[in-house]
Amino acid sequence: MKDRNPAAASIEKQKAGEAAAGLVKEGMVIGLGTGSTTAYTIAQVGRRVDEGLDILAVVTSYQSEMLAIDAGIPLTSLAEHPTLDIAIDGADQVDADFNVIKGGGAAHTREKVVAKSAKRFVIVADDSKTSDRLDHFVPIEVLPYASNLVIRQMKELGGEPQMRLGVRKDGPVISDNGNFILDVKFGVIKDPAKLSLELSACTGVVEHGIFTNVHDIYIGKKDGSVTITSSI
Ligand code: A5P
Repeated sequence: MKDRNPAAASIEKQKAGEAAAGLVKEGMVIGLGTGSTTAYTIAQVGRRVDEGLDILAVVTSYQSEMLAIDAGIPLTSLAEHPTLDIAIDGADQVDADFNVIKGGGAAHTREKVVAKSAKRFVIVADDSKTSDRLDHFVPIEVLPYASNLVIRQMKELGGEPQMRLGVRKDGPVISDNGNFILDVKFGVIKDPAKLSLELSACTGVVEHGIFTNVHDIYIGKKDGSVTITSSI
């Protein structure tokens, strides 16, 4: 599994995260993703709020809530604002057809709720996340009561599931929603949309990490440049 240590911060992540913050306009209600790249977006949006930008934000995790509060970004909820103008979030892998795998930080359930609530969904990532085909493991949030049943269904779909275990916490990782996380290897995913539907149909799966509704992708490069591609 990749290093999620904040010390692994990089210029690529910083440039992509900060560039996408420029999409946030006066009066918007925005979704703030989770992870080390989105942390730069949140910090940059916070700087713009300090300068007078009037926005509201919905968070996707306790991590993004803490960062947004630290950055002085006024928060709201999906109950108050069911439709968001834009959501900005990180990725574990991005293919050439705007399919994305997320959930390395176990936040993909709320991230998907926020992404689907947004009129525009923007991914920010460093260059290492790009790939012609998706072959990263797929994080699956599962109801703990159903974990053995989900493991069986993952194997029936050809996957190799592994329970995500805590670091400095014995036993399984518990998500912000109180559930377990299975990391499931499927090898090269030839048809992400098909696998997405198959995973959603499994009993006991709360949400999986394949996202197929991405509008824009901001990729930070080692030289400090940012490549922007749009599907619309
Ligand atoms: C959180 O669960 C994830 O979906 C993150 O958005 C994703 O893992 C990207 O994280 P980094 O920006 O830290 O690479």
